[in-house]
This record gives sequence, C-alpha cells and structure tokens, in this order.
Amino acid sequence: MEKVRIAILCSGGGTNFQAIYDAQQAGMIPDGEIALVVCDHAEAFALERARRAGIPAAVFDRVAIPDRGERERRILACLKENGAELVVLAGFMTILSPAFVAAYENRIVNIHPALLPNFGGKGFYGLHVHEAVLKAGVKVTGATVHYVVADCDAGPVIAQKEVEVKENDTPESLQKRVMREAEWVIFPQAVEEVCKKIKGEQR
Ligand code: GAR
Repeated sequence: MEKVRIAILCSGGGTNFQAIYDAQQAGMIPDGEIALVVCDHAEAFALERARRAGIPAAVFDRVAIPDRGERERRILACLKENGAELVVLAGFMTILSPAFVAAYENRIVNIHPALLPNFGGKGFYGLHVHEAVLKAGVKVTGATVHYVVADCDAGPVIAQKEVEVKENDTPESLQKRVMREAEWVIFPQAVEEVCKKIKGEQR
C-alpha cells in the first residue's frame, strides 16, 4: 500500500521538521513520506532546511497575507493539490480555525513543548512555555504530541516524554533540552505511529 503523504507546517527554525526528515531518511517512517513543507513566515529557516532536503515548500506569509481566513484557504488548497493526507504541525505558530481542523479531522498532529494539559492553550508557545515552567518552579517538564481539535492544545495525546528541569536553567537552556531529549525523539515515532494507523484505515 502507498505511503501516507505528509505535509509539515512550520513557522520558524524547523528543527522538528529536520528530526522527522532525518528519521525518514534513516528508514524509521516506513509508512509515510514528507510530500510538502508549508511555512507561514517567508524568512523561516525551515524553508532552507526543506530546500536542502529537496522537499517542495510553499510559503503563505503572515505579513503578505494578514487575513488568517484567507491564509488558511490558500494553505488548504495547497494541501489538497499536493494530496496531503496527514498534516504535521512542527512549530506552526498560528492557531488553526475550527473550519480548518474539520477539513482534516483526526489527520492533524501537533508537538507542544510541555506535558499537556499543563502549560498549554492560547499564549503558551515557544519560549513562553519554558518561561512559565520555570516561573512555576516545577521539577519535571517535557513534550507532548497530540491530535489537533478545535480547542487549542486539547486533543487526544499520542505520546509524551518527561524532561528534568535543572536548578540553573534559563528558558533557552530548558527549550534546548526539551527539544533534544523529548521532541526530536517522540515526534518522528508518533508520526510513524499515526501513518501506520491511517494506512490501516479506509483511504
Ligand atoms: C518547538 O519547541 C515546538 O514544540 C514549539 O515551537 C518550537 C518550534 O521549533 N511549538 C509550540 O510552542 C506550539 N504551541 P522548531 O521550529 O525548531 O521545530
């Protein structure tokens, strides 16, 4: 059976895209293939990573297309044109509308840099999450891969991994450890798990 066509949506550095791509190249995602990268930031380094990897990329820049609805319509059209079956949010910093989520029901997954339901929801993204973790003084944080539903960061959990918070951590040092020890490990595994599941279903 054919591999599941994956679209990866990014806004920034794209290290999670890179981790998934590297896993694919290492044969760890036998049930899926990255067909496309979509980025909502024209300057994102994720685009350079896609270029180096030889993966087609499309840009729907937040400044050039300020209306979220218009951007979403264009992104959806692009996903459909490219036959995307699974949408992977890898550091995609725009909250998707319920209409977008409905168009890919149970076919959108996201990585969040904390142990949901803690430190999730509107306003908790990127470094802000790690700032909040340090402020709360918790000793353990981590990352979560989950299905995307209309409510932000509230969908069913696919995978989680804990990471220790250290005494002298800064938001930046904590972010790096969470990425290295949790995100880049569980995200490729979860993507393969979901692709395998989709292959087993009617397509
Ligand atoms: C990652 O830490 C990811 O978990 C987080 O943004 C970073 C993107 O890095 N995502 C969110 O905060 C989503 N709410 P990357 O572009 O290098 O993958």
